[in-house]
Amino acid sequence: MGELYLFNRIQKPGYRGTLAEYAAEGGYAALRKALAMTPEEVVAIVKDSGLRGRGGAGFPTGFKWTFMPKPNDPRARYLAVNADESEPGTCKDRILMERDPHFVLEGILISAYAIRAKAAYIYIRGEYRASKIAMDSAIAEARAAGIINEKIMAPGLGAEVPLLAYTHVGAGAYICGEETALMESLEGKRGQPRPKPPFPANFGLWGMPTTVNNIETLANVPPIITKGVAWYQTMGTKPSPGNFLCGVSGDVNKPGVYELPLGIPIKSIINDVAGGVWKGRALKGIIPGGSSSGFLPKSIVDGGIAMDHDSLKNQGSFIGTASVVVFDETRCIVRAVKILCQFYHHETCGQCTQCREGCAWLDQIICRIENGDGREDDITTLLALCDGMRGKTICALSDAAAIPVQLALQHFRAEFEEHIRSKRCPLGNPKMEFHTDGRHSHDHLHNTQTVHTDVLTLHGIENPEAGRYRETMRHPS
Ligand SMILES: Cc1cc2nc3c(=O)[nH]c(=O)nc-3n(C[C@H](O)[C@H](O)[C@H](O)COP(=O)(O)O)c2cc1C
Ligand code: SF4
Repeated sequence: MGELYLFNRIQKPGYRGTLAEYAAEGGYAALRKALAMTPEEVVAIVKDSGLRGRGGAGFPTGFKWTFMPKPNDPRARYLAVNADESEPGTCKDRILMERDPHFVLEGILISAYAIRAKAAYIYIRGEYRASKIAMDSAIAEARAAGIINEKIMAPGLGAEVPLLAYTHVGAGAYICGEETALMESLEGKRGQPRPKPPFPANFGLWGMPTTVNNIETLANVPPIITKGVAWYQTMGTKPSPGNFLCGVSGDVNKPGVYELPLGIPIKSIINDVAGGVWKGRALKGIIPGGSSSGFLPKSIVDGGIAMDHDSLKNQGSFIGTASVVVFDETRCIVRAVKILCQFYHHETCGQCTQCREGCAWLDQIICRIENGDGREDDITTLLALCDGMRGKTICALSDAAAIPVQLALQHFRAEFEEHIRSKRCPLGNPKMEFHTDGRHSHDHLHNTQTVHTDVLTLHGIENPEAGRYRETMRHPS
């Protein structure tokens, strides 16, 4: 599948990602090269590369960095590194952190230098204990080796700069992945999004200029610095250059996290990379980029839709975290939507009425449809609710909750209607216990939260755990 630059070391047998191993592979050469430039030159290279954020919104990274104040602004500035990775279906950042922590750290340090940050704070999802241990140990090794410190000589500036990184563990709330909630949480407060403006580049951590970037985004930086813009643009498409880490989970023969070029057809991801739909079953649909990106039907996949920002946007979806969840023909989309609605209901922070009440209503209505108690006008109510939840709130969680419902109703409406008409699941799913108070029903979290633990296979490197988790995900029939 073309050149690898994110997983190239991880794939080598025996590679454990220690400083010695990383350095033997040319590690930290990019940092030395970057320190020989001015921060603005580093920003210009990343901007020219066209790198887009891998945390969900796909915002151009170098361009975001230019929002930071001019060098003569005396305020301290920070880099907040988003390793919260809570989007259902997504488990890519953890692999980078656990298997190649110095690579991640090098990207963080170069980026911190580029925005003239006083320090970088890595906000790690609470459940990711192994990631925290790996990153802490990489930071300690880098400190002992003099790679990071309060004062590091930057020949490009002819001065010493601080190069510092610290980890911080989240408490397991999805909302803390949202950049302003992440900063609140880092500051020790309740993790709730802040209204914008002011934007983080002006008023971020402790009120100081801050850039927030995702782990995978920053892992792209060292190769870009080492190999250059022209090399980077040989991969992917013009508007979406480079490779991306693609989690594939659900009903495929080889679930895993794969490094692939942006623009690859999703059909090829399912069939060629992930070994096709399991048990010889037909494809029903997919979630293309983590739960918030909603549901797309087989016809769109068969039509050749590509995994890139523009192609998915044209379908009313988005690339998100580029984590594909595959549903075979036996899966009930109403149940899948219900599971997501329960998730968002549980995770809304409750500040905005549209989101707080909207998530609760979606959960309640979808649950009753799935339970065989749907009402004739429920679909109309759902669509009106979703409309009221989009683009009106402090953060995008409200949209993230509405999009899966809207897309499911757009592409699988007949299935919802059939549930309401026949007062049962047409696919024969038995009635399940349901909660309207936002509690998860862990027994049937098919394809969503479970994916954090069931997808660990890397490029054909079999994970003995995977089979075990597949068993728990089996269709009840
Ligand atoms: C509800 C919500 C949850 C989010 N969770 C994450 C997350 O877990 N990890 C992440 O990198 N970005 C997450 N984001 C996106 C961040 O707000 C932000 O856009 C991203 O970290 C920027 O990094 P990037 O430009 O490198 O993509 C989330 C956004 C929302 C609205
Ligand atoms: S949209 Fe939802 S999660 Fe985001 S701030 Fe408003 S209530 Fe909280």
